[in-house]
Amino acid sequence: MLKITCFFLFFLSWTPFYGYFGSFFEGGFDGHVLEEKKPAPSCTKEELEEVVEPYVEPIPPDPFPFLHEMDGAHATLMKDAILESLFDGVTMEFIKSQGITRPKRRLRVLDLGCGNGNISISLANYLGKKASIKGIDHDGAKVSEARRRARGGNAFNARFDKGTLENLSEIRSSFFDLIICRLFFLDSNRLEDTLNTVTRLLKQGGKVIFIETVSSDSLSCVPSFSAFEEIKSLITNKLEKRGVQVDMGQKLISALYHAGCKIDDVRFFHPVLKTPQEKRFYEMEVHQMKDTLLSEGKYSEEELDDFIRQIKEKEHDNYTTFSCYEVAMISATKR
Ligand SMILES: C[S@@+](CC[C@H](N)C(=O)[O-])C[C@H]1O[C@@H](n2cnc3c(N)ncnc32)[C@H](O)[C@@H]1O
Repeated sequence: MLKITCFFLFFLSWTPFYGYFGSFFEGGFDGHVLEEKKPAPSCTKEELEEVVEPYVEPIPPDPFPFLHEMDGAHATLMKDAILESLFDGVTMEFIKSQGITRPKRRLRVLDLGCGNGNISISLANYLGKKASIKGIDHDGAKVSEARRRARGGNAFNARFDKGTLENLSEIRSSFFDLIICRLFFLDSNRLEDTLNTVTRLLKQGGKVIFIETVSSDSLSCVPSFSAFEEIKSLITNKLEKRGVQVDMGQKLISALYHAGCKIDDVRFFHPVLKTPQEKRFYEMEVHQMKDTLLSEGKYSEEELDDFIRQIKEKEHDNYTTFSCYEVAMISATKR
């Protein structure tokens, strides 16, 4: 035992070894070990790309490779598809989290401003045969598309009608158990009429779910660039001109309370545009606005095409992140 202790003390007193182990245990104070630590080499973007896992699927061929082939109608369809891909999953998750499940008895649902019918169809499949879903929208083309999708998705319990808020006055009061209204106020500024209709049509104890934008600041690009900032202000101006209130999500919380509803839950969701397809959102916005902007004479066709070209370049760049409208998801019960 004494021999082992003596050997150990001798070993510790041997400074080069002490220095060597010390550099491990005490964070390194030995000069020659530190000298061996070279500064981390800097990598080029290309080298980084080799090690960073790409998070996108291989890019499919661009269906609209030439700028002049894209018109406002195509752009609207593509923008709708992008918004659906961003919001559909989270909408259904929110609905499920509110205790809305397959009903044991008949359940009547209204999808107000149903657009292409995506949420109606998902709800029809989720809630099953005892639920009947009615989607209404004043845009006839969207209603036709919703009907086509419902047939394709075997959602026979979802029906779609062309109609406006006024047409709903024909339906008797307290008819619906559940009303869904998503991004309706991006196309409408009729808060009071909408709330009056919703609360009239909803049964006492029935639920309403609104999903609406909270601010135009949530349109963003990191790192930003001047063409993006220009496009963002064009979108904001367009909405302002139409009287759209992009902070409707915030306003609804108190408006619902004053309309006689109990707020059950509010959650916020800010979507990031991840895939090159989703990142086309802003490109589609410019295509949609192009005719109006040209008729106003503020921009030339070349300038607008240049905005689109700049945006398109960033769509395939993994180092540029776009996000779009942050929304408030509000669930309330009619008292
Ligand atoms: C931004 S889209 C949202 C569509 C769908 N709710 C969704 O989230 O995918 C708004 C929809 O509301 C419809 N809309 C706006 N005001 C309306 C009104 N007063 N009556 C019926 N539909 C309306 C528009 O035609 C459009 O399809």
